[in-house]
Amino acid sequence: MQPIQQRKIEADERLITKIYHLPQVSGHEGEIQEAADIIRSGGLLAIPTETVYGLGANALDPDAVARIYEAKGRASDNPLIIHVPDESWLDTYCRDVPPLAYRLAEAFWPGPLTMILPRKAIVPDRTTGGLDTVGVRCPDHPVTLAIIQAAGVPIAAPSANTSGRPSCTSAAEVLEDMDGKIQGIVDGGPSSVGVESTILDLTVSPPQLLRPGGMPLDELEAVCGTITIDRAVTGLLKEGERPRAPGMKYRHYAPQAPVTVVTGRPDKCAAYIQKRLTPTTGVICFHEFLPLFPGLEVHDLGPAQDKTEQARRVFSALRRFDGTGVTEIFAQCPDPAGLGLAIGNRLKKAAGFNVLDLGEDGYTIPTIGLVGGSGAGKSTVLDCFAACGFGVIDCDRVYHDLLDTSAPLRAALRGRFGDEVFDGQRLDRKALGALVFQNSAALRDLNHITFPFITMEVRRQAAEMQRRHLPGVVLDAAALLESPLKADCDRLVAVVAEDDLRLRRIMARDGLTEDYARARLAAQPSQQVYRAACDDILENNGTREQLLAQCQALLERIQLQSIDERTSLTP
Ligand code: TXA
Ligand code: MG
Repeated sequence: MQPIQQRKIEADERLITKIYHLPQVSGHEGEIQEAADIIRSGGLLAIPTETVYGLGANALDPDAVARIYEAKGRASDNPLIIHVPDESWLDTYCRDVPPLAYRLAEAFWPGPLTMILPRKAIVPDRTTGGLDTVGVRCPDHPVTLAIIQAAGVPIAAPSANTSGRPSCTSAAEVLEDMDGKIQGIVDGGPSSVGVESTILDLTVSPPQLLRPGGMPLDELEAVCGTITIDRAVTGLLKEGERPRAPGMKYRHYAPQAPVTVVTGRPDKCAAYIQKRLTPTTGVICFHEFLPLFPGLEVHDLGPAQDKTEQARRVFSALRRFDGTGVTEIFAQCPDPAGLGLAIGNRLKKAAGFNVLDLGEDGYTIPTIGLVGGSGAGKSTVLDCFAACGFGVIDCDRVYHDLLDTSAPLRAALRGRFGDEVFDGQRLDRKALGALVFQNSAALRDLNHITFPFITMEVRRQAAEMQRRHLPGVVLDAAALLESPLKADCDRLVAVVAEDDLRLRRIMARDGLTEDYARARLAAQPSQQVYRAACDDILENNGTREQLLAQCQALLERIQLQSIDERTSLTP
């Protein structure tokens, strides 16, 4: 092994990133030496692997490793895995290697399996984020194996994307994220697997799956027997809960627009998405369903039954929405068998585990959009639905809660409307109201900013009600007819009443003067607008009992329809 030369790379130095086209080893021995020299001299080199591209550096050189964190913008407590050319290196870098590790290496290396083992002191703290363990993997790419052999040191390599972005599965994607930040990129062709390695912790018994990946769980179980699954794999962790793989706690793979994953029978999921489209909806769907989404930003995940192809495509699909003007993304998702666990995990992480499960029969509980002006009797109807077990989502309330809880929403509002609508960290709702009142451009901007946040939160709450098998959900939203949520409704219901009745009701209810009450009604859409837009009209010109009777009749119609829909779903 030659001595490692140190070349200090200044933090603010913009590098010339050299691309090496190395489809194979033979005939490229000189360039492989050159690439290995980058590693040996403490530089950064993107390397192809069968899973995703890695951002490599000498795993034994803390300064080189520090540059990886810098180039990626990665948190320093998130450890790197080290790449070795075969299992004979295990003993040099790991302590107490159990026989099971050799059995797994024998069965699956080179390949998409990372094993967590106790580390030896030769592996620096920087590399393991201070942990007493280290992840080791032997990648299945002949060029990268040759580079590691030539460098004579293990290569520490996280995925070669900027932290938080989807991983890169081609040299061109790496260039997009890393140009000018690293010395070289080895272009070894597109990654054949497409999702990162499966991470298995062998320091516990039974072994634990920390990240699903390119090596399916059932194949590992065939060698190890029982494997437990870390909770971070299947859902969002609670506040303060820590995943065993530190990287699993970070928001990941996320496009800029919010993502909703829809699981269940593929045709039903595609139909569900189709019903909710707006002109700026992006879609990730199985190949078969492309014709349902003409004229939209759509990415083909591959055939519904071909998970190998889906794994190859999932990251590029997630990467491509940025910069397209897409404001929300719906994604279809395979079932969790085989590679489906890893593909679903990447999609769900991109969605912050915002998942709508339509179940095996694909039945969705009915969504009712309820509209009506002041004094028309909307609250009575809402009470009636609630008494029948329907979930009610008050979208105004959702909005107000988001103003208190969502930092990104507040930041977007501050960006558009400035500090004057803020009182310290709190949004001053009165000041904002005054600003957009009678300024239609400002109001349009306000809606443009808030609607995506409200839509996502309403869908999250509706998905929760779906999981609880409620008979249905009612959306109560003043601006429903102008909002993207209109598309989520199976049925639009209006409560209407004659204007002078409404006037008298709100004067009595809210203690208003006649002039003030008139002004309030004049600012609202006319009853005609509601009549024209809705499927069902509840006329509230009589007694409360008469309104309730109409409401009961409507509920019966809704119930009959959902029974119909369920029976027609049985294959
Ligand atoms: O397929 C892959 O594994 C790719 C290619 C380049 O090999 N690499 C990769 O690295 O995905 P990265 O850093 O993006 O993800 C590694 C994950 C992180 O979530 C990290 O927290 C976890 O592995 N990890 C690393 N060392 C660990 C350790 N000692 N204990 C637990 N988790 C560890
Ligand atoms: Mg990564």
